[in-house]
Amino acid sequence: MIKCITCGAKYSLEEIIYTCKDCGSVLEIMCKPDVSRDIFNCRKSTMWKYKEFMPVDESRIVSLQEGGTPFIKCNKLGDQLGVKLYVKVEGSNPTGSFKDRGMSVGITKALELGVDTVGCASTGNTSASLAAYAARAGLRCIVILPSGKVALGKLAQAMFHGAEVISVEGNFDEALEVITALALDGKIYLLNSVNPFRLEGQKSIGFEIVDDLGWKSPDRIILPVGNAGNISAIWKGVNEFYEADFIKDLPRMTGIQAEGSAPIVNAVRRGAEDIIPVENPETIATAIRIGAPVSALKALRAIYDSDGLAETVTDDEILYSQKLLARSEGIGVEPASAASIAGLRKLVETGEIDKGEEIVCIVTGHLLKDPNTAINACKEPVKVEANVEALSRVLRGL
Ligand code: F0G
Repeated sequence: MIKCITCGAKYSLEEIIYTCKDCGSVLEIMCKPDVSRDIFNCRKSTMWKYKEFMPVDESRIVSLQEGGTPFIKCNKLGDQLGVKLYVKVEGSNPTGSFKDRGMSVGITKALELGVDTVGCASTGNTSASLAAYAARAGLRCIVILPSGKVALGKLAQAMFHGAEVISVEGNFDEALEVITALALDGKIYLLNSVNPFRLEGQKSIGFEIVDDLGWKSPDRIILPVGNAGNISAIWKGVNEFYEADFIKDLPRMTGIQAEGSAPIVNAVRRGAEDIIPVENPETIATAIRIGAPVSALKALRAIYDSDGLAETVTDDEILYSQKLLARSEGIGVEPASAASIAGLRKLVETGEIDKGEEIVCIVTGHLLKDPNTAINACKEPVKVEANVEALSRVLRGL
């Protein structure tokens, strides 16, 4: 069953619906399988390990073996900050971001529904992932991108997997508005995170974290927030495992936004239940350059209900943390992903996060998604003639 999170109206799982017909609010899927956690033993480590919690037909699953991503203990960085730090590396998914989890479920649902065309608006990663999963399922794929603002790796993926890529003169929020209108006309099946099936896949990040920790929650989960689907999904996931009695505690959800693009943080500072959209969002972390997140209501509930936090970071703090993670722990992430590390550093500094806390930072996308930003952050390679003397001279000088 699909349920409106605001008025409780109910809809069938077979209905193509994105927002509540009665009140216009966002929807979620009710999922309560009656299973024991022992069934997960000995299953392969992909997100389909938890298939009983995925509301789609098992016989039609479209998968590239997403999920089961690395869960890395980061002692150097953790010791520096005085916390016990784990990093969940979502860049290790098939197309290099967490979006693959949602697309696996979303595209499986698209096949069940018998649609022939799928689409999304995207800051890049959603389009890269949708293009790949649509290709695997043999569906037509249309993606709408904000002109000039999509990192090169993501654009390359969307085009190379055969999506019809359309660049709109506008930002992500405007792109989402136009494709939503197309979806409401029935021309495409929309696979942005307003589609509740997407979040069903992404909730598996929450499943994996508590499973990796030996069936318990960390004190806190920190992640970047853009359209606000992921924080909502992970909170839903840990709650489902809590209600199933697989874990006895819940984490505090902590959302990080870029300073120039922070409608959720602004709402939390006001203690508000809903956001005021940011008109012209700006940040170097293009993945989270979003002013009117569609899952804002769910995200705010996740933060309030978990006694969590929301914080902003500057572009400079993001770039500093991106390099810090790459050079101290060997984990390469795109700028938006580094917002979680930048947020952790800031919250430790301000004393909002206590020393000794057990923290999981989710890093959402791979370094190579945005090669330009990576290259611009580094010095050019030293040029040298191809002989040992020249090389030795240069190495002595470095
Ligand atoms: N990190 C990365 C790398 C992302 O690509 C996104 C969102 C987020 C974080 C934020 O996640 O939207 O669930 O709060 N990217 C979307 C896209 C909007 O189109 O690829 P969120």
